Amino acid sequence: MIADRLRAFKIGSLFLSNPLVLAPLAGISDLPFRLLAKEQGCALVHTEMVSAEGLVRNRKALGGLMKSCPQERPLGVQIFGSNPESMAAAAKIVEEWGADVVDLNMGCPVRKVVSGGSGAALLKDLPKAGKIMDKVRKAVSIPLTVKIRTGWDEKSLNYLEVGRIAQECGVDALTLHGRTRRQGYGCKADWEAIAQAKKQLRIPVIGNGDLTSPEAVSHFFALTGADGAMIGRGALGNPWIFRQILQFFRGGLPEPPSLEEKEETILRHLRMMVDARGEKHGVREFRKHLLWYTRGLRGGSEFRSRVAGWVTRSEVTVHINGFFEKIRGSRFLSQFSS
Ligand SMILES: Cc1cc2nc3c(=O)[nH]c(=O)nc-3n(C[C@H](O)[C@H](O)[C@H](O)COP(=O)(O)O)c2cc1C
Repeated sequence: MIADRLRAFKIGSLFLSNPLVLAPLAGISDLPFRLLAKEQGCALVHTEMVSAEGLVRNRKALGGLMKSCPQERPLGVQIFGSNPESMAAAAKIVEEWGADVVDLNMGCPVRKVVSGGSGAALLKDLPKAGKIMDKVRKAVSIPLTVKIRTGWDEKSLNYLEVGRIAQECGVDALTLHGRTRRQGYGCKADWEAIAQAKKQLRIPVIGNGDLTSPEAVSHFFALTGADGAMIGRGALGNPWIFRQILQFFRGGLPEPPSLEEKEETILRHLRMMVDARGEKHGVREFRKHLLWYTRGLRGGSEFRSRVAGWVTRSEVTVHINGFFEKIRGSRFLSQFSS
C-alpha cells in the first residue's frame, strides 16, 4: 500500500518516475539547488518564477536566469504575468529554449506581483486566467501546468472552478497550494481542498503545502489521493528529504545524512554556487542556505550569528570545516563521558 504511493505519473507526455516535485522558490530554486534535489530522487524540479514581460522584452535574459544541464532534467520553467499575449509569447520562448514543462504562476501572493494583476490576482479574474491558459495552451506543445492557491481569501475559495477551466483549456496538471492568498504561508495548508480537487478533476493534481517529512507526505497521500507532492520549504537546507520520503515509502527507515555527507554536500553546494554566480554573488546567495543547513546542529546558533560577515569561498570553507570538526570532536568526547 505504501509502496503504491511511489507510483509514477504523467504530466501530458512527460513520464515522472515518482510523485515528488520540487517547488518553484524565488531566490532559491536555482540550478545548484535543483541538482541537489534531483540527486536525492526528486522527479521534477522547477525554476523560480520568471517574468513573462521580461522574457518577451529581452529573450537573452533567459540565458542568465535559466542555466540548466542534462542531469537536472526534466525541468519545469515557471512564468508569471497578466497579459495573455505576453504569457503565450513567453511560454513559446520557454519551449524553444528547451524546457520540459511550462508552469503558469497563479498563486504568488507578493504585493508587487498581485498589484500588476499577476500571480494570485488572477484568482479574482477568472475570464483573464482562462484566456491566459487558453492562449498559452495554443502556443506550446510541451506539457503545461498551472499552480494556484485555494482562492484569494476564505470567502472566495474557487480552486475547483479554476481547476475546471484549466482542464477545459487543455492544461496537463494542476498544482494546488492549500492556502489562500490572504493566508500567505502561515496557517496549516488545507489538504482537504486538495482531496476535493483530486476527486473532482480529471487532470493530475499535485498537492502542495506543509509537506515537510516522510510521515507528513504519507499522511497527505492517504488523505488526498493526489498524483504528486510538491515540496517547498521542507527542502531548505534539507535536500535529503526526497531520499527519505522514497525510503519511507519503500518500507525502510528514512536515513538522515551523516555529518560527513552533510558537510560534503554543503561544500559542494557552495562550490556550485560560486561556479554559477562568481565568488561575490555566489557566496552572498549561499549564506542563507548555510543558515538552513545548520538548523538543529550543536553550536549552530553561534555559527549562524557569524555567517553574515563571510565573503570569500575559502573563508566560508574554513568555517564550515571548523564547525563540523567541532561537532565530531564533541561527539567523540561524549562517548567517553557516558
Ligand atoms: C522563499 C519562497 C519563494 C517562493 N517562490 C515561489 C515562486 O517563485 N513561484 C511559486 O509559484 N511559488 C513560490 N513560492 C511558494 C512555494 O512554491 C510553495 O507553494 C509554498 O512555499 C508552500 O509549500 P511549502 O509548505 O512546501 O513550503 C515561494 C515560497 C517561498 C517560501
